[in-house]
Amino acid sequence: DIEQSITALLGQMTLEEKIGQLTQYSGREVTGPASNRKTDLLNSIRTGQVGSMLNVKGVADTRAIQAEALKSRLKIPLLFGLDVIHGYQTVFPIPLAEAASWDLAAIRESAHVAAREAAAAGQHWTFAPMVDVGRDPRWGRVMEGAGEDTYLGSEIAKARVLGFQGEKLGGTDAIMACAKHFAAYGAATAGRDYNTVDMSEQQLWETYLPPFKAAVDAGAATFMNSFNTLNGVPATGNKYLQRDILKGQWNYQGFVVSDWGSIGEMVPWGYARDKADAAQKALAAGSDMDMESDAYRNTLAKSVQDGKADVALVDDAVRRILRKKFELGLFDDPYKFSDLKREKKVLNDPKHRVAARDIARKSVVLLKNDNNTLPLAAPPKIAVIGPLAKAKRDLAGSWIVLADTNQITSVYDGLVQRAGKKSQVLYAKGCDVMGDSRAGFAQAVATAQAADVVVLAVGETWDMSGEAKSRTDIGLPGVQEELFRALKVTGKPVVVILLAGRPLIFNAIADQADAILYGWWPGSEGGHALADVLFGDYNPGGKLPSTFPRAVGQIPLSYQQYNTGRPVVDPKNIRYRSAYIDAPNTPRYAFGHGLSYTTFKYDNLRLSQPTMTAGQTVQVQLTVTNSGKVAGEEVVQLYLRDLVASVSRPLRELKDFRKINLKPGETQTVTFTIDQNKLAFYNSRLEWAAEPGEFQLMLGAASDDIRLESKLTLLP
Ligand code: IFM
Repeated sequence: DIEQSITALLGQMTLEEKIGQLTQYSGREVTGPASNRKTDLLNSIRTGQVGSMLNVKGVADTRAIQAEALKSRLKIPLLFGLDVIHGYQTVFPIPLAEAASWDLAAIRESAHVAAREAAAAGQHWTFAPMVDVGRDPRWGRVMEGAGEDTYLGSEIAKARVLGFQGEKLGGTDAIMACAKHFAAYGAATAGRDYNTVDMSEQQLWETYLPPFKAAVDAGAATFMNSFNTLNGVPATGNKYLQRDILKGQWNYQGFVVSDWGSIGEMVPWGYARDKADAAQKALAAGSDMDMESDAYRNTLAKSVQDGKADVALVDDAVRRILRKKFELGLFDDPYKFSDLKREKKVLNDPKHRVAARDIARKSVVLLKNDNNTLPLAAPPKIAVIGPLAKAKRDLAGSWIVLADTNQITSVYDGLVQRAGKKSQVLYAKGCDVMGDSRAGFAQAVATAQAADVVVLAVGETWDMSGEAKSRTDIGLPGVQEELFRALKVTGKPVVVILLAGRPLIFNAIADQADAILYGWWPGSEGGHALADVLFGDYNPGGKLPSTFPRAVGQIPLSYQQYNTGRPVVDPKNIRYRSAYIDAPNTPRYAFGHGLSYTTFKYDNLRLSQPTMTAGQTVQVQLTVTNSGKVAGEEVVQLYLRDLVASVSRPLRELKDFRKINLKPGETQTVTFTIDQNKLAFYNSRLEWAAEPGEFQLMLGAASDDIRLESKLTLLP
């Protein structure tokens, strides 16, 4: 049995070898600040002083480096970890885009394909999913998460963990997942990366921790801690988070890896005197593996000898790491994941592009569609304009591994292929994403004038959202919105495709464009997916997983608003009301918003009973009908408000959703089950409890498009 094997192995290990297992170094690339480490890497590996490597890619390299580890005294194989965030070779849409699909099966499949490719190329472990709730689009890493909502985020966390890992570790088409960044990294103050986080315990437990708990429940093999402080204590040195909550209350059996250099960073935070102090604090707090700080390796043995670090904690950390090596099957075959033939075959599997196109289409959100501008009815001439119209690399977004960017389909290529001989596709760039040159405007306008419809592709370049890409201004960069205005003057219908890693602000486009598609960074099949949507081969059904603000000053803005003591009743009279004098409180586009080429009617809401007691459940049923002319997908959303409670509750909270597919005229009954858990929240004593009283139930197509309402009473 595995535990016995671990005990036997531990018994043979020297303290140095144990600490080696807790040490992770980066290979060829850096995904953090370059260190001044002087270690002779290969020699360290050969002498059993390294437990894991990150950023070593491909079968040839992983094999060669594993061979070095097998020369060590105890021949303990290395773990290879990598940021496989949205695909390995086949690039899937960025995680935030996929969240817009609200399609848990497709999200799971995307993670599975990424794992399949990575596992065929020597990897054992991905540093994904990022399950941080993100409510501040200034923070560039919102691109990597599932948006602002805790419930949706928790469901997606489960789907991704299961997608990467399968039901059980050990198969050759699965890799270990890593729920990150524990915890509250998404709330970095002012959206600035690596910053402080100050939040109430209630908010931590209610909003930020549940996706991590969902990842634990789904079996996430590893966790990564984070760069931020939480109420003054760096997450990496945070015993409350890692020992009390994760390993204590949640009984987590996996291991925790630090973020890149985050153990050493406790020194500049002013939380540790030096690296030795930082290593002691990180170990005591429950950080099992040191990624790139070189702090455990250089200081822990002495700290143990001096009685400053507890060898039992070292043993526990080693045990957790060895357990995963055993579960992966690396002791039976250290090269299990490194097979040149399989690598070649799997990386070129055409099924993966099919999966990428499927979820890319599902991720597109139709924000606006005046006068049914879309779908395009094969116009004779289409002008494709904009700095991102022919972009390939930008469509992949940040965090790509091995993508051949020439293989990415641009919007222009996708449209040309789909249009075939029916429509002529004209092109002009117009301007760059950044910069203030308007030199290309005249040609863009002339191109628009020569066409029947304009498709304008604008947004962010791939390096404008992601790690260390915080922005104070999330407006559309450069003169892109000016280019839009110039094109609009031609009187031609303008369809805008926005390609970006985060919610952007684009008020002129929102006001004046004829149709808007939010395509995010859609990955390898982006151009095809967008052409599918533009021509109506696929009816868009994506819904925003994040609120889109009107102004940066509204941030952080989420749909989970509170009524306040002075709510705005009449927007024309906001004096002494909780409001802004220069902008409405409402977002530009609300959480859950997304249109379709068809319409859906919501009817006949009924509850199995109007009251319930603590142990009972209530069925909430409604019928949804496709009242338009084409088949389409709808995400039916259930929100709830606790009207009076011991703690003031938000106006609405998402509690469940169902994605359905209806043919024209088809009706489906949708059933949700309400139990006590759905009514509960953290009270001021931090107890998760439902309080008797009245609850408002809201069923709708978006958080600001509630179609049916009812009341439910929880009896004492
Ligand atoms: O996995 C990442 C993490 O999310 C941010 N810092 C670097 C790590 C490894 O590349």
